[in-house]
Amino acid sequence: EWTPDAFVETTIADLKEKLGNDKVVLALSGGVDSSVAAILLHKAIGKNLHCIFVDNGLLRKDEYAAVLEQYKHLGLNIKGVDAKDRFLSQLAGVSDPELKRKAIGRVFIEVFDDEAHQVQDVKWLAQGTIYPDIIESVSVKGPSATIKSHHNVGGLPDFMKLKVVEPLNTLFKDEVRRVGTSLGLEHFIIGRHPFPGPGLAIRILGEVTAEKVAILQEADAIYINNLKEAGLYDKVWQAGAIFLPVQSVGVMGDERTYENAIALRAVESVDGMTADWCHLPYNVLAKISNEIINKVKGINRVVYDISSKPPATIEWE
Ligand code: XMP
Repeated sequence: EWTPDAFVETTIADLKEKLGNDKVVLALSGGVDSSVAAILLHKAIGKNLHCIFVDNGLLRKDEYAAVLEQYKHLGLNIKGVDAKDRFLSQLAGVSDPELKRKAIGRVFIEVFDDEAHQVQDVKWLAQGTIYPDIIESVSVKGPSATIKSHHNVGGLPDFMKLKVVEPLNTLFKDEVRRVGTSLGLEHFIIGRHPFPGPGLAIRILGEVTAEKVAILQEADAIYINNLKEAGLYDKVWQAGAIFLPVQSVGVMGDERTYENAIALRAVESVDGMTADWCHLPYNVLAKISNEIINKVKGINRVVYDISSKPPATIEWE
């Protein structure tokens, strides 16, 4: 019978044998999968695991600093890379969802390749690929969380010539969470909602600008904090705010406003392949809406997405 403890024990032993004294690079995303993979590898090979955490400027509000701090606390050998401007400049003028994904994938590969080059004699690329990623990478939307799938044109970047180690590639998400718990990872990491690799770029419909990212980060933080306060965060499979490039009329005092709208999405799901919209309580939705409209400059309307998948995907792009 499969148990997380037994998995941890045999995987660490296998990794030790396979990797010996070799150096390994791994891109941490802040998500459950790459975090659990990193901890397993860290237990097996210690400082020979070189983790890289890239700030693409498309993470949730304050996430980069909080997650980096958490990883350091766990003792990981980690380097944070601020690449916000590189990502944003490549997104300028791009509004097609797939082209946005490609631009982000391309910049990520460049940044990661630069960093991987700084690790002398690195032999392996570790990835937090889980079993459903292998299936999902053939889905209609294409690129999933793995580095490999972001790659599409041109010559191979050097890090892709490395041998690949994927300690979680036989596991489902719930098993990864159980392994993480068995490794002593905190709820802050284990309990996180899935978050797409291209981040807030695919939650801003159309062109991404620094200003829209800042607005969305504020609205999203209000949304997520309220879900946590209401004890709903752990009951929802995934939630996030979406910036709509639609302006509508509002009133504030004696003034007319003409500002953007935010859509709120919350779904229940098992694996993200199908999903039902969550029936969040009206009082919670009301509080979130008021808070966003009162506090986030540039937003005068909030709507709730009541579409299930299929046909409506979880992300709007
Ligand atoms: P959809 O929108 O296809 O999303 O219903 C299903 C799950 O996949 C995530 N997702 C992505 N994750 N890169 C990722 O790493 C992507 O390009 C991407 N697109 C969607 C989405 O957040 C949901 O969990």
